[in-house]
Amino acid sequence: MSTTNEAQAALNWLPVAVCWFDEDLNFMGANLKFLQTFNLSEDQLIGEHFSQVFDSYGFMSTIGHFIKSTEASGEFHQPLLLNRKQLHFKFTFQKCQTSERMILLTLEDITAVVEKNQEIETLKNKMTEASRMAVLGEMTSGIGHEINNPLTIILSQVDMLRSVIKRSLSIENKPELLNRLDKISSTSFRIEKIVRGLKMYGRDSSQDPFQSTLVTNLISDSLELCSEKLREHEIHLIVDDFDPNLQIDCRPGQISQILLNLIGNSKDAVAGLDERWIRLQIKDAGDVVRFALIDSGKGIPTSISSKLTDSFFTTKETGKGTGLGLSISKKIIESHFGQIYVDNECPNTKFVFEVPKGLAAVA
Ligand SMILES: Nc1ncnc2c1ncn2[C@@H]1O[C@H](COP(=O)(O)OP(=O)(O)OP(=O)(O)O)[C@@H](O)[C@H]1O
Ligand SMILES: [Mg+2]
Repeated sequence: MSTTNEAQAALNWLPVAVCWFDEDLNFMGANLKFLQTFNLSEDQLIGEHFSQVFDSYGFMSTIGHFIKSTEASGEFHQPLLLNRKQLHFKFTFQKCQTSERMILLTLEDITAVVEKNQEIETLKNKMTEASRMAVLGEMTSGIGHEINNPLTIILSQVDMLRSVIKRSLSIENKPELLNRLDKISSTSFRIEKIVRGLKMYGRDSSQDPFQSTLVTNLISDSLELCSEKLREHEIHLIVDDFDPNLQIDCRPGQISQILLNLIGNSKDAVAGLDERWIRLQIKDAGDVVRFALIDSGKGIPTSISSKLTDSFFTTKETGKGTGLGLSISKKIIESHFGQIYVDNECPNTKFVFEVPKGLAAVA
């Protein structure tokens, strides 16, 4: 084997694409990796002008400048569309002072690195978003606390007014006045309930002890927090009848968080549909209570179903979804020894989560 052949054979072993061309930009040779990358044979390449392969990528002027310059080498990054796939390459040009003046070009596929960097960048944006949400949670809980104090004053004043009216002999329209006072107090109680829910949602409840909890209370506290939002989007919320004595051992704040995450997802999914409803079913299923949230969407596409509970997986635009709702819900449900899954048998979108009734059921 001649030295030239040996050199060519060695070049063919290189994992990077290499080619060389003269100062008029005519190809003089290339290694196997280069020919494979551009799907060319040696005969098709040698003697061809550089622009035949790289014309569409807009760096003819860059290479032209490099040849005229006094620089011995140059480097730049460029994405190329090959076989309908965008790949990122690092191009390195080297002037070789051989008998014929030639330029050696190496192309290193850096797609994996570029994609990883893009992934890290997206992840960073999402982390910022997530920490903003955490701050929001803390804020809501603080604001909730502030609202409670004046609310207590309103309620006690209403009580006083009620007894003054009842005792007074000179006041006419007593029933109407008392009726109005009842409205003030029932609205204030509603605010109190929302605030209670907000505090529960905003705080970190991961260390709370398990409490024996009536499912009906859990549901009404959670729904109080989202019913207005659903009304705003004209989404019909249906809660099927369930046993009002049903109880579970849980951290109520966390189970409420799962419900709100699921309802929030359903709201986003159906808000743009003609048919907009969300149905909540609660069933006593022996050792567990089964919560099913069905919405008028048509199920989860199989292409994303395995990624749903991955942290930061979202199909929503940046700023709208952090992709944390389902992954947090999964962690919570696991800490309750339960499970969460999508029921693909249902023609609509159906998320199910199960919570053991009592820790005794799991032991
Ligand atoms: N009811 C649903 N219908 C259709 N797709 C859903 C539904 N619930 C979840 N998904 C899909 O699962 C993805 C992940 O949901 P997840 O709750 O984890 O994050 P997110 O809603 O995008 O963001 P976040 O909850 O953190 O604000 C959603 O972006 C969406 O593509
Ligand atoms: Mg969500």
